Amino acid sequence: MCGIIAYSGHQAATPIILDGLRRLAYRGYDSAGIAFTQRGEIHVIKTPGKLEALVDKVAASDNPMLATCGMGHTRWATHGVPNQVNAHPHLSSGGEFALVHNGIIENYREIKAELTAKGYTFLSETDTEVLLDLIAEYRKSSPDTLTAFQRAVLRADGAYALVLTSRDEPEAVYATRKNAPLVAGVGVGENFVSSDITAFLSHTRKVIFLDEGDIIRITPDTYQVFRVEDLAPATKAVQHIEWDIQSARKGGYKHFMLKEIFEQPLVLRSALAGRIAPDWSGVLLPEMNEREILRRPGRVRIVACGTSYNAGLWASSLIETWGGVPCSVEIASEFRYRKPLLERDELVILISQSGETADTLAALKVARECDCSSLGLCNVVGSSLAREADTIIYTQAGPEISVASTKALCSQMALLTLLAMYWGERRGRFAAGELKTLLAEFAALPDYLEKQLPQMLEEAKGFAVRTASFHNVFFLGRGRNCALAMEGALKLKELSYIHAEAYAAGEMKHGPIALINPDFLTIALIPHDGHYAKAYSNIQEVAARSGPIMAITEKSDDPSVTLDWAEMYWHIPAANDPFTSFLLLPMLQLLSYEAATYLGKDVDQPRNLAKSVTVE
Ligand code: F6R
Repeated sequence: MCGIIAYSGHQAATPIILDGLRRLAYRGYDSAGIAFTQRGEIHVIKTPGKLEALVDKVAASDNPMLATCGMGHTRWATHGVPNQVNAHPHLSSGGEFALVHNGIIENYREIKAELTAKGYTFLSETDTEVLLDLIAEYRKSSPDTLTAFQRAVLRADGAYALVLTSRDEPEAVYATRKNAPLVAGVGVGENFVSSDITAFLSHTRKVIFLDEGDIIRITPDTYQVFRVEDLAPATKAVQHIEWDIQSARKGGYKHFMLKEIFEQPLVLRSALAGRIAPDWSGVLLPEMNEREILRRPGRVRIVACGTSYNAGLWASSLIETWGGVPCSVEIASEFRYRKPLLERDELVILISQSGETADTLAALKVARECDCSSLGLCNVVGSSLAREADTIIYTQAGPEISVASTKALCSQMALLTLLAMYWGERRGRFAAGELKTLLAEFAALPDYLEKQLPQMLEEAKGFAVRTASFHNVFFLGRGRNCALAMEGALKLKELSYIHAEAYAAGEMKHGPIALINPDFLTIALIPHDGHYAKAYSNIQEVAARSGPIMAITEKSDDPSVTLDWAEMYWHIPAANDPFTSFLLLPMLQLLSYEAATYLGKDVDQPRNLAKSVTVE
């Protein structure tokens, strides 16, 4: 998704902005640009493609780049194709303002018609350029830029983070946000605005989280925040961020994705830290003390997108069997528009790594409109979900840079497992000593997984080469393994672009089995859990139709259990259900990672994908 960085200080702005853009690249983008004011003129340099192309263009420019204030943008196209004209920053018709924008101005057509009638013409297909000329138009009848900006922002419907610079105020940057992330960084003799803290973290750790409807104006030595409604000054707390910037680097791994897969033992440790009672008697979730509905919900509705949705699917049966709470799981983009019937005693759990996914945030609003309590599971501190949900539990997976989500899912599954235990404990669902045993096994999991990961990686390489020789792959599983099958298929398709689908194994005979032939690989997830026997039979139906099979299962001591029907079998390290899933998950992640690298794909930034989907 688009990234913004703006700087006002006493140093040359361009290198700082380009460095900020590099740190934002993980969000996904298809063009990039910068703008700065020098000798009474706003200069814009932009280009489609990767940042290197922008860096080369800046280097080739004969402009001395002396400006100490400016802004940069990485664009992920929403209006208009990713080309130079549509790339940001945009320059107003009269050259007096430059604007960068994340999000969508929904009523831009109406504004465009109005401005066109006044004689404005537009170079790009973007909604951004329309809003920019509206600012320029309002400036004619406003006492200052701040007021013109405010008037235009009040006209704009939709979701946006906007940053504006002005030819007449070469040291000032104006910014605002609505349903899109934007933070300010407060330095010494320099200030920043960005869509993401990481863009300026090497310069300052002092941060202001802007609320919706805040307008901020920064100069090298000042920052002022106003409310958009009436331009009344707003007082903001400056927070200190503890993030380690090293953790946002690859740390010796070839790709962020591989690093993040290998961080999963650490992620599990952080998820469990302080969450298990010292005498192993129960789960500690102090966040749940806030309200009775958190301690004893009547029902649970999980709403999320993509991998986070798969986390919900995976956990739903645990929430029911252990927690004793009826649980349903929905895709946020469907939930938000289908006018769901929600009971007042229903707890809506929103799961989002980024905390900025537009559909998930819209689902939160639906829950609020129905007077339901919301619980956010989120990885990004200070994100919109973290600030807007009634209660937030941080998944503490650390920054996830790879566009494809891996360790965030592991952390979500861990927290949801703890939640299921927490509710089960309160509803007396566990036999004497049962929870203690489960917690001990859970606590041992990080060390166990850490030992297994290097071997898993080695094994994945061979299986991945064979997988990469297919154009079509089924992932099959039953129960919780069905959710993991969905995640396995999602990872394989998004990373390697191999067509992959997931099915509940029992559904195969209801249609999909027609696709089975010697060129269609089936990856069967059949750990020795309660579904094993049934899943095993379903896979035999594939084998009987000459479908090649990779079986992922545990080693068995039972001589009657043969795997000779499978072309390949990959053994899951021994563990008990549901903890086996925390071992199966990295196996699937590594399989896709290796298949994609073998096929020479861009693992950390797959095509067409964005890390944080802030538009619907
Ligand atoms: C897949 C992936 C996406 C995200 C989805 C939701 O690897 O990363 O499917 O899981 O876009 O994102 P969050 O969790 O940030 O709401």
